[in-house]
Amino acid sequence: MPTSYHECLQRAERITWRVEDLIGGDKAFDFSRRFLPDTLARCAGIEFLRPRDRLLLNQIRAHAYLSMFLLVEEFVLPFVLDHARPISAEDHFRLRAYLEFAAEEAKHIHLFRSFREAFSEGFGRRCMIIGPSSEIARRVLSHPKLSVALLMLHMECMTQSHYFDCAVNDRDIDERFSDLLLHHALEEQQHAQLDALMIETMAGAMRQDDIDTAIQGYLELTEFMDGALLSQVRLDIAELEEASGRRLGSTHRELLTNLQHQACRWTFLGSGMRRPQFLACVERLNGRARAAIETRATAYC
Ligand SMILES: [Fe+2]
Ligand SMILES: [Fe+2]
Repeated sequence: MPTSYHECLQRAERITWRVEDLIGGDKAFDFSRRFLPDTLARCAGIEFLRPRDRLLLNQIRAHAYLSMFLLVEEFVLPFVLDHARPISAEDHFRLRAYLEFAAEEAKHIHLFRSFREAFSEGFGRRCMIIGPSSEIARRVLSHPKLSVALLMLHMECMTQSHYFDCAVNDRDIDERFSDLLLHHALEEQQHAQLDALMIETMAGAMRQDDIDTAIQGYLELTEFMDGALLSQVRLDIAELEEASGRRLGSTHRELLTNLQHQACRWTFLGSGMRRPQFLACVERLNGRARAAIETRATAYC
């Protein structure tokens, strides 16, 4: 846990990068490479796909990765701005820490959009994505604030896992994508600390019953995400068929859907729910809830 908002702000100010440093100009994708680490994409072992199609699927999954984060940012940015709005200007470090947090989320929207544009240009087609994003954001924000804050912390933690546990060990992935994972993870590391403080403040003003309801709300949100991930996997497989010009038989399509759904469950659910930082935060709210989340996470590995 950080000792203060001042410390959070100082750390955030030390991390400075611009979207233009990561993509555009001479910084282009290398479409001969995988984009996502295979620990997340889980395409390498699918023997009924040709090697070329495994590569295409990995890249399509990377496109979906960018799109999923854009969906997430759609509710994170207004949520953080709403949290910052009532903070007194006299509370300098706290206010500035949350405004910095919001500014970085706005930069992440720019980052993911720029990467998705560059992807579509290089890939030669615009891949389908679930939505509309405003409806997904509305569904998420209809839950208690503490549920949303827990989901945000989960995502900040999983982003760290994607780089520090996965990409850092996979040297063959596209350099641009590896850079995106690293730079996003560095800022999300700071957000996770602020989010843990936000959660502590929120919970401090709540009755235990309401905290438990919010934890239940968080679990409902992970189920909602699970359904959304399955819908996105179906679109990704349709894209693979289009891009490769090869139709899958119904048995292989079903098998591929199950394999890729599970890969997405690990990428977007299990890898966040199992992070010690996330579990420690839940434990401070309710020790039994930590055990329930650890049990649920076993289905998302
Ligand atoms: Fe972000
Ligand atoms: Fe964030």
